[in-house]
Amino acid sequence: MAQPIRHFLQFADLSTDELQHVFARASLIKERFKRYEFYQPLRDRTLAMVFEKASTRTRVSFEAGMYQLGGSVIHLTTGDSQLGRAEPIEDTARVISRMVDLVMIRTYEQAKIQRFAKSSRVPVINGLTNEYHPCQILADVFTFIEHRGSIAGRTVAWIGDANNMAYTWIQAARLLGFTLHVSTPPSYPLDARLSVTGPHLKVFDLPLEAARGADLVTTDVWTSMGFESENEVRRKAFTDWCVDSEIMAAASPQALFMHCLPAHRGEEVTEEVLEGPQSVVWDEAENRLHVQKALMEYLLLGHEVT
Ligand code: CP
Ligand code: NVA
Repeated sequence: MAQPIRHFLQFADLSTDELQHVFARASLIKERFKRYEFYQPLRDRTLAMVFEKASTRTRVSFEAGMYQLGGSVIHLTTGDSQLGRAEPIEDTARVISRMVDLVMIRTYEQAKIQRFAKSSRVPVINGLTNEYHPCQILADVFTFIEHRGSIAGRTVAWIGDANNMAYTWIQAARLLGFTLHVSTPPSYPLDARLSVTGPHLKVFDLPLEAARGADLVTTDVWTSMGFESENEVRRKAFTDWCVDSEIMAAASPQALFMHCLPAHRGEEVTEEVLEGPQSVVWDEAENRLHVQKALMEYLLLGHEVT
């Protein structure tokens, strides 16, 4: 009997065991790739990427990753497809998924990607929505594991906006057994509908308190894509939510710093922290490539891999 299609629309779409499998595969795939070993399990397979927002890392990592696995890629944007001319998303999904083997989408509302997935014959991957950015957190957790070992039992401090990254970290904390400390400005609290509560989530008024003793401090831009009209108001509200050396000093002496990038130096993070010895932002960006190769492999081939 055919297996049901697996999508990766949010982090919690994979179980803890499946996430551990993807991390283990990412490690092996990365190692082999660095040794110039040929590994092309997705020959003849095609990935369609639909971008309704800008991207550098997501586009390059998915495109390079799919080619490296032996497949090919089609890049679509709202402007150059019928999506921009109001073809229903369900119709687009039915057509594209008869022609390709995987679809990655970066768009606005999570509801849109869910509608697409419902009409898709092939796995759909969330390449960022307003609500979640699961591929980025796969890379971030993988990067933590590479530098510090298991993330279970650790503390991660999220300092900044209650955005797609924050909501994905919350899901990751619950699934992978670590504690997430969150501090956002009072006028930008977490949306309760996107924040599963429990011992894995602790909310702090002050960023310094959230950072205390953390094994990882992480942040993101004050204004995410799609919210640019709020830029000026946000700039004022977020002034104290800047990861600087004082915040890093409150964290564990071994704490890492992460940022999904692009970063605005002098806003959510100082130049000193971003370029400092605790920062692993470039490893984090590179690891998008390796974890997404493992993810695509898993969604198409399951555990039957070499
Ligand atoms: N971090 C991230 O997703 O970057 P891009 O917007 O460049 O894809
Ligand atoms: N929160 C940011 C992440 C960019 C990769 C945004 O959505 O714009």
